[in-house]
Amino acid sequence: MQGVARNFFTMAVIYALVGMTLGLSMAMSQNHEQLPTHAHIMVLGWLMSAVFAFFYHLVPAARNSKLATIHFWLAAVSSVGMVVGLYILYGGNPSIEPVLGISAMAYFAATVLFAFIALRALWSSETAETAGQTATR
Ligand code: HEM
Ligand code: HEM
Repeated sequence: MQGVARNFFTMAVIYALVGMTLGLSMAMSQNHEQLPTHAHIMVLGWLMSAVFAFFYHLVPAARNSKLATIHFWLAAVSSVGMVVGLYILYGGNPSIEPVLGISAMAYFAATVLFAFIALRALWSSETAETAGQTATR
């Protein structure tokens, strides 16, 4: 795994560890107020990033595009904004909502960018062939 794929997988593993630590602390304290934070760290942080990592690993043409680097950094910054914002919000500070809103919209924009990168790579005939070869290796 190289480049953007490796970046996404590194980020995914960090989110897995942070999210499970929060889950354990919720379970041990029997205080589940941070459920949405834990849920989003696990699924948006760990699972989404891992899916992006495997996609870029399997489709080198997508990984080598400059847009993929933009996708990584937009997803990285906005996801940190989202999970830190959620933690603060569910810690009882609703004034963080604007930061949360902007971060969520930025994460959405990153995913729209990913849709463009992924579909363009998969539907271009040259790339589709390369992707197929990589997947069967
Ligand atoms: C050390 C491992 C984990 C612990 C101790 C843990 C703990 C918890 C706790 C205490 C809750 C709140 C349950 C409730 O109040 O109903 C929860 C919810 C949740 N967890 Fe975990 N969790 C762990 C791992 C994971 C993993 C690996 C994922 C996903 C990849 C995950 C995804 C979720 C989701 C999506 C919810 C919200 C479920 C809902 O909406 O009802 N958790 N977890
Ligand atoms: C733009 C990004 C996102 C926004 C603004 C967002 C917003 C929300 C909101 C408002 C809730 C309800 C929370 C509550 O009732 O307390 C929720 C729940 C949930 N979302 Fe998201 N979400 C986003 C991305 C995602 C993604 C990418 C996933 C999965 C890959 C996901 C999985 C979940 C799950 C499993 C729940 C139920 C657990 C919970 O109640 O927190 N979300 N989300």
